[in-house]
Amino acid sequence: MTEAFCKVLRYFFEVYNEGTMKRVTLSVIKADVGSVGGHTKPHEKMLKEVREMVAEAKFNKLLIDADVKYTGDDICLIMSHAWGANAPIIHKFAWDCFKAATRVAAAEGCYGAGQDLLVDAPSGNVRGAGPGVAEIEFVLDKNNKERPVESFLVFAGDKCGPGMFNLPLYQTFCDPMHDGGLLLNPKMNKGFKLSVIDMDHKDRDHDRIIELEVPEKTWDVAALLRDMDRFGIEAVYSRYQPNEQIVAVSAMRLHNIAGKYTGKDDPVALVRTQGMFPAPEELIEPYLLGHFVSGDARGSHVMPIMPVAINTTVAGAYCLPIVSCMAYSMNEDGYFSGEGVDIFGNNVWEATRQKIVRKAEEFRRQGFFGATMAGNAELAYTGIVEALNKLDHGFVLRRGSSYKEETGK
Ligand code: 13P
Ligand code: MG
Ligand code: MG
Repeated sequence: MTEAFCKVLRYFFEVYNEGTMKRVTLSVIKADVGSVGGHTKPHEKMLKEVREMVAEAKFNKLLIDADVKYTGDDICLIMSHAWGANAPIIHKFAWDCFKAATRVAAAEGCYGAGQDLLVDAPSGNVRGAGPGVAEIEFVLDKNNKERPVESFLVFAGDKCGPGMFNLPLYQTFCDPMHDGGLLLNPKMNKGFKLSVIDMDHKDRDHDRIIELEVPEKTWDVAALLRDMDRFGIEAVYSRYQPNEQIVAVSAMRLHNIAGKYTGKDDPVALVRTQGMFPAPEELIEPYLLGHFVSGDARGSHVMPIMPVAINTTVAGAYCLPIVSCMAYSMNEDGYFSGEGVDIFGNNVWEATRQKIVRKAEEFRRQGFFGATMAGNAELAYTGIVEALNKLDHGFVLRRGSSYKEETGK
């Protein structure tokens, strides 16, 4: 950024800052652009590079506040700013960060340098270009008794697809067995609108979306969400205050963009919490289960997902899908509280982790047979298709089918 441009940015920010009501956007953008010794973690020098760029962007008032974390081999930018959702200036900044980290990864000989950057340069928006994006725009108003300040959670998953969030979000927003707040909080009791995306829809100009209101349509939601490779929750809205978006998920599939397996579309989810929205405990309880998700090991296996501390390296046998969760507060000016809480980093999750390792071990004993490997639709983007095509030519037709013997026709 030139000095003249930075001056314009700073001027714009001063004007923006004078208002008492501010429209602020939270953008969480993550990508895998290289990792040490396989799909483990980004190199420390990559993180340093990105953190320096973020510090400069904060100084120049492009960003109000930001944090840089990693989960497995994915770098995650958590940013607040004044530019709105899908803002080209923010998306370009994130892209530039990932490009810079890619250069470091390449110089250090890291595995998969630039893996998730699927195009040469994105046209204004990195959505559809590889990185995972979750954004929510809302108004910060110190006179608003409902929500003078903000609190939110950032979930990041590695070695899993975006449908990983289907079950936990279903349990929080549709099932009082897992979220007593649905019964106890009259504002939550009004229900929610869920936006579900068909992630198999391949059209560069249109997404295929269905909006369903719960609790009335809970069973319809369940019927879609069970197919986590195809359908994903991409957004949840309050019905108590319909303009308020509570959840954003980076629900898109890399193989649909690239046409082949290029690494996993490891997802991020942004969730506003407290007050008229679910409390953190109601959002994290589903992760006690270690639910089976697809996307592990070459993106082709099913394994239970383990809640882990932020900045955790992937080192589990056969990868093991992981999910981290950071909790932040935001003040009336859009600044984070100076620290975040590493929810799954707490010891209280240790017993859950032990249980999930045992669950994973047991499942791995079945190797590639049946339910342990991802479904055919997922494998269609992998090399097994070549092997099966070759074998297909080896099949012959044999006279005297058992069908004829049974039916007599
Ligand atoms: P990443 O998408 O995180 O690189 O993981 C690929 C994988 O499944 C490793 O086996
Ligand atoms: Mg990787
Ligand atoms: Mg990854």
